[in-house]
Amino acid sequence: MAKTIPAPKTDGASHVAANPLREGIESNRVADPCTIVFFGASGDLFKRMLMPAVYSLRAKDILPSNFGLIGFARTPYTDDQFRDYCKRAVQQDQDPDAPLKDALWNDLAKRIGYLTGDFDDTKHFQALKARLDDYEKQFGAGHNRLFYLATPPSVFPKIIEQLQKAGLDPVSNPNGWSRIIVEKPFGTDLASARALQTEVEKVFTENQVYRIDHYLGKETVQDIMALRFANTIFEPIWSRNYVQSVHITAAETLGVEARGAYYDNAGALRDMIQNHVLNLLALVAMEPPASSDADAIRNEKYKVFSAIEPPAPEHVFQMSVRGQYGPGTIGGQHVAGYRSEPDVSPTSNAETYAALKLYINSWRWAGVPFFLRSGKRLARKASEIAITFNPIPHRLFGEKSDTIEQNVLVIKIQPDEGVSIRFNAKVPGQKNHIRGVTMDFNYGTGFGVQSAPAYERLLADAMRGDATLFTRWDAVQRAWEIVMPILDVWQSIKDRSFPNYAAGSEGPDAAKTLNPGWRIL
Ligand code: BG6
Repeated sequence: MAKTIPAPKTDGASHVAANPLREGIESNRVADPCTIVFFGASGDLFKRMLMPAVYSLRAKDILPSNFGLIGFARTPYTDDQFRDYCKRAVQQDQDPDAPLKDALWNDLAKRIGYLTGDFDDTKHFQALKARLDDYEKQFGAGHNRLFYLATPPSVFPKIIEQLQKAGLDPVSNPNGWSRIIVEKPFGTDLASARALQTEVEKVFTENQVYRIDHYLGKETVQDIMALRFANTIFEPIWSRNYVQSVHITAAETLGVEARGAYYDNAGALRDMIQNHVLNLLALVAMEPPASSDADAIRNEKYKVFSAIEPPAPEHVFQMSVRGQYGPGTIGGQHVAGYRSEPDVSPTSNAETYAALKLYINSWRWAGVPFFLRSGKRLARKASEIAITFNPIPHRLFGEKSDTIEQNVLVIKIQPDEGVSIRFNAKVPGQKNHIRGVTMDFNYGTGFGVQSAPAYERLLADAMRGDATLFTRWDAVQRAWEIVMPILDVWQSIKDRSFPNYAAGSEGPDAAKTLNPGWRIL
């Protein structure tokens, strides 16, 4: 029988308590014992995000001491080669001031294994089952199994089918839990999302499925709910009575990098709006949930989506703007236009920018426009939510030439992380001038810690069985229903103005017509 490896010594963040700013910050909340199987372990996501997250969870004592990790992918590796690959992935991600700790790494490395596998071959999944059984005995992880689909989405259905054929489905594992994490995108349109869901449902029940939207794992995104529901001052003004409009931005300076082949079939609406940006909208607009329970929160998010009417095809061009970047300058560097990027068609109709105006048909939000925009190769990287309040009803102060600004609350998600409020103040002096000023809260300085990367939080939550920060099928389906008419119209009518914005700019001019109130990037 395999020898059981003892639980590692902890390397807890005991220093945390010493800093008053960090009061209340948890040092560890250990996840359940389990074995994680990463399908697609030789891929980019595993290397850049998942393996560094696993190591970091270990370093923070969040990873359970009874833990195993099995990589499964087509690329041939031995266990040792895979461990080296994992180590390099962690080292590449490390802060130079906090190098990898050998003792931690060695403990983790012996829990890591690899199987070279073909997703079409049931025998390879049977070998995986044998390896899982062995790991569970060695590391005392019980029969708790977390399957992570980090492969291209086209093979998701095959992997799920093979899990069942090899007896790795939840029903065949009555003595432990089985969960599956499904990477984004969940489908490429409504029909394919439904088809994927049908395959998922054959093997897993909804509470065993963890659909990732990594935005939900960002600390500042989680704080939207805290801001709204852990304070009394915002909720009374959080409605059409005080709010004039809501502006949600997810702007990037990056182009499509090496992902041209994927992106040219996706575009900004599928890649960012259908998932990340709509999730931000749901958190801003939802009603207070009855509890902090995953389903209580997800019920409210779903209600927001169900109150958004998918646009009629004839209204699509009035409520949306699409763009594609041409060549331009970012950070002083000349960059190529989208159509010259690798694996992109030189006549591509894919949008690298999308802006929408949506309304939520509810008592709280009737008549308040929600403007959403996301794009690549824009002037600045910025994800934020700006809530613009109504103008003052009657002007008392200020010289004639002064502009009395509308109040704006900005929830800054990244790269700045914080909250700011724009309000008017009297300019010091004998005259009665009024000027807009900003009150700023910054997470880094406020709490004295850096936010953990989203994948760390999401992996740990899946191990703990907390689905709050994962998307439920009803919401995913409804989000597809909302964007489908736009996708269909955009796909059927080629945009002859493409490229219509220069890399490094604010996006297409038409976006300013849709919403003159965008904050400057
Ligand atoms: C991904 C998209 O989901 O999110 C990418 O596929 C995009 O195209 C990325 O670049 C943005 O994530 P973040 O966390 O950098 O804002």
